[in-house]
Amino acid sequence: MSRLVVVSNRVAVPDPTGKGAAGGLAVALREAFEAYQGIWFGWSGKVAAQPSTQPKIVNRERVQYALMDLTSLDRQEYYNGFANRALWPIMHYRIGLSEFSRADYAGYLRVNRSFANALAQMVQPDDLVWVHDYHLIPLAAELRALGITNRIGYFHHIPWPAPEVLGTLPGSRELLRAITDYNLIGVQTERDADNLRRCLVQELGAVHRKGDVVELGNHQTRVKGFPIGIDVRGFEQAALRSSSHRLVRQTTAGLGSRRLIIGVDRLDYSKGIPERMESFERFLVGNPDQRGQVTYLQITPTSRSEVPEYATLSREVNETLGRINGSLGEPGWVPIHYVNSTYPRSVLAGLHRLSRVGLVTPMRDGMNLVAKEYVAAQNPDDPGVLVLSKFAGAAEQLTDALLVNPNDKFEVAEAIRDALYMGRDERIARWTRMMGTIRQTDVSWWASTFLKDLAGGKNAGRPRIQVGV
Ligand code: F6P
Repeated sequence: MSRLVVVSNRVAVPDPTGKGAAGGLAVALREAFEAYQGIWFGWSGKVAAQPSTQPKIVNRERVQYALMDLTSLDRQEYYNGFANRALWPIMHYRIGLSEFSRADYAGYLRVNRSFANALAQMVQPDDLVWVHDYHLIPLAAELRALGITNRIGYFHHIPWPAPEVLGTLPGSRELLRAITDYNLIGVQTERDADNLRRCLVQELGAVHRKGDVVELGNHQTRVKGFPIGIDVRGFEQAALRSSSHRLVRQTTAGLGSRRLIIGVDRLDYSKGIPERMESFERFLVGNPDQRGQVTYLQITPTSRSEVPEYATLSREVNETLGRINGSLGEPGWVPIHYVNSTYPRSVLAGLHRLSRVGLVTPMRDGMNLVAKEYVAAQNPDDPGVLVLSKFAGAAEQLTDALLVNPNDKFEVAEAIRDALYMGRDERIARWTRMMGTIRQTDVSWWASTFLKDLAGGKNAGRPRIQVGV
């Protein structure tokens, strides 16, 4: 029986005590690793004086975790530099924020090559290899150069932009050539799939054959949408049990008769946090009767703090927050509560369930699982309303949310108002339809659909040319 080899930048090694929350990808792969024996390969998260040439192996149940250390230069060039300063902004349509450096790009290729060298020694002929995310786009090309002909799939967790946007990034044609070395490329939405196929056609002269097949020379790859899901039952159950949690009880008591509006996002400019705060400000200014009647809680764990654009964003959020709370707050009422802590699923599910409105208004997002978590956490008899950016991948599926353009603060303010005033019957009808969709396309559906497709595809890999700077 073939094994499953997962590769991702971060590797979630389970805590041996079984305690501690599993991350999104770990939850997604749990069932897959029950079906297949496997390896999970990637960065240990550690910085060492010398880069690893062999991974450190940690065995937990059926999975072998293979962990590579990076040097501080690797982390700077590969992770902070090319992945998060050049690729991330471009993939999120922020051309003006993208900082390309040839040294960073060389570091990105160097880490991909060293991962491929170590991984090639572990891969057996029947293994299915599943690579995740933008840090590792050239990995298949590097593995092919080493003679690996296994089926290799890639899932891109973030948006894939239109060719006119991707084309502004130096090196993008090389990345596109490298991505065709995967047998199957999964993206979050049909829009992303269409964008990537158009990039391959316009930039490389590939031919888009029927459906998801793209042909480059005598080689075919497939590009297809696989919308990622959540552990719906787990989230529902966590929400049901959450009312006894201390933080949830304290929040309930602190609210009194006020209604809660919630936002939960990593601190990232793609999430539209200052824009959302200003939309809430617009709502309060336009609806003065609501002052003192609602509280907006924004939970925002900090992220990628070594990248300068994130430090700038942090200052911008703090300034916006201070200005709004200072100008609109009153003794006894703070309009926006902003916290940088990370909370476990049990607390988040409870806070979602308490909230009358879930504000998920990224400027651009691959899927945005918070939107799905908000829906899954609701009380079926009295659900809250999801206000969702039309630029989140989730908007392709959750058409019963109040869909908004996050750039239009008046439109978002109006949606907040509509959400707060929406009658119970309409809230239940919208929630029921959204819940049906997220149940049908939950996380185990996502992983098993991708893997079945990868395992069943007809085109085998080919050894091929090397990518270089
Ligand atoms: O959404 C893309 C992604 O890379 C996720 O896979 C990851 O959980 C998240 O961003 C956080 O990013 P980082 O690993 O840089 O903290």
